[in-house]
Amino acid sequence: MNIENIGTNLGAEVRGVDLTDTDAETVGVLRQVFRAHGVLVFRDQPVTDDQQVAFSRHFGTIEPTLPSDPYGGGGLINRIGNVDAAGEIIPSDDKRSLYQAGNMLWHADGSFRAAPLKASFLSAKEVPPAGGETEFASVRAAFADLPEGRKTELEGLVAEHSMAHSRAQIAPDLMTEAFSREAPPVRHDLIRIVPETGEKMLHVGSYASHIIGWPVEKGRALLLELLEWATQPRYVVSHSWRADDLVMWDNRCCLHRGRPWAFDEDRRIMHRTTLKGTD
Ligand code: OGA
Ligand code: MN
Repeated sequence: MNIENIGTNLGAEVRGVDLTDTDAETVGVLRQVFRAHGVLVFRDQPVTDDQQVAFSRHFGTIEPTLPSDPYGGGGLINRIGNVDAAGEIIPSDDKRSLYQAGNMLWHADGSFRAAPLKASFLSAKEVPPAGGETEFASVRAAFADLPEGRKTELEGLVAEHSMAHSRAQIAPDLMTEAFSREAPPVRHDLIRIVPETGEKMLHVGSYASHIIGWPVEKGRALLLELLEWATQPRYVVSHSWRADDLVMWDNRCCLHRGRPWAFDEDRRIMHRTTLKGTD
């Protein structure tokens, strides 16, 4: 196995592993490498859905998508892309596309859940010839670099997160009533502590709406300031996809967002599995 850093703050490319054939020793090493780097890139891994599920389970328990998710609920595989079941490109102004456009806002997967999702695995099936990258930002390095006084001010603050807040930034009527009911707002500490390591992370992103006990606008301004801080170029790495790439990331130590491509011309199909959180 060969491991090469991608950014100074985040990410590594791992070579010399076949994700469909990992023994206990390899899994042990990958767990350590994942903890250290937060984002792992594997090239040339043409996994089936079952193989992706099996690989993901080495790192935790898979959380199915919410049953009422209007765009593919209740399964182990979250299909992300611009192609419908019949193989046709979904127009970019279709509601399904707008809903997925939420992926283009900086976020941590599932932070609208009471137990935010721990890690995500994304396998590229079809990728556009240009654009469609995924960017990752280290909220570990961003927190560590904050002035000490700022860290103290943030201590004890709690933010409200919701799916509704994220999708309201795209278009006003994207949430179905059933989905809103199933995903009510939740509260998370602004400073997230990773239980295994005790490390502190900034917990911000598109689902974070406001600070509990503060006027909404004041809280929103703080969350925006911290998001801008955490997504400065020095904390960000970009992944340019090739078909059969598999990228896994720890949602606690990084934010991510998708980048645009020629939505109405080029196909992009990705399959995601996601692990349950604990807090
Ligand atoms: C995701 C996501 C971005 C992308 O799969 O959770 O946000 O580039 N994807 O597809
Ligand atoms: Mn995501």
